[in-house]
Amino acid sequence: MKEKRNVLINLMIYLAMKRLLLIMGLGLSFNSIAQAATSKLDGKAIFDKNCSVCHSVMPPPKSAPPITPLASHYHQKYSTKKDGVNHLVAYLKSPNKDNAIDPQAITRFGLMPALRLPDSELRAVAEWVWDQYNPNMGMGRGMGMGQGQGMGRGRGMNQ
Ligand code: HEC
Repeated sequence: MKEKRNVLINLMIYLAMKRLLLIMGLGLSFNSIAQAATSKLDGKAIFDKNCSVCHSVMPPPKSAPPITPLASHYHQKYSTKKDGVNHLVAYLKSPNKDNAIDPQAITRFGLMPALRLPDSELRAVAEWVWDQYNPNMGMGRGMGMGQGQGMGRGRGMNQ
């Protein structure tokens, strides 16, 4: 009788362990899924870390032109994201008057310093900049506020 009970307890322990292992296994695989998701470079995070000292996203400017109007300039000049992003990456690596999208900005703010970031990060942040284009926002005039949509990307305003 006692023997039988021991077997039963052992079985229960065994089942409990198995469940525990299963849960741990699941936990591990969730972790690696989460890691895979964050290993794709986040342009916004790179911006916050490396660019937001000088650049606001929306006007008013800090010590450099805000990103949204810059993105509009880029969308006017380049018809594909690929071309726009290529120019952006090149400019971030070596800013100069000849390839500036808005030479007036240099007169107003001074030349941007070259950024020492890995290519992959430059590309991710350049893609993010390109995506900040808001068609409802005019080129600095009116800002599309009247349509009640211009503020759609208002994050960063209060920085
Ligand atoms: C130390 C201040 C500073 C930092 C940091 C900085 N910028 Fe700039 N940036 C400027 C200034 C000033 C200008 C305007 C003058 C110019 O175009 O060089 C500018 C211009 C630009 C332009 C317009 C380029 C063009 O084609 O004319 C883009 C796009 C830009 N910055 C993106 C970024 C991004 C993205 C980062 C971060 C990865 C960044 N900047 C970091 C100061 C800065």
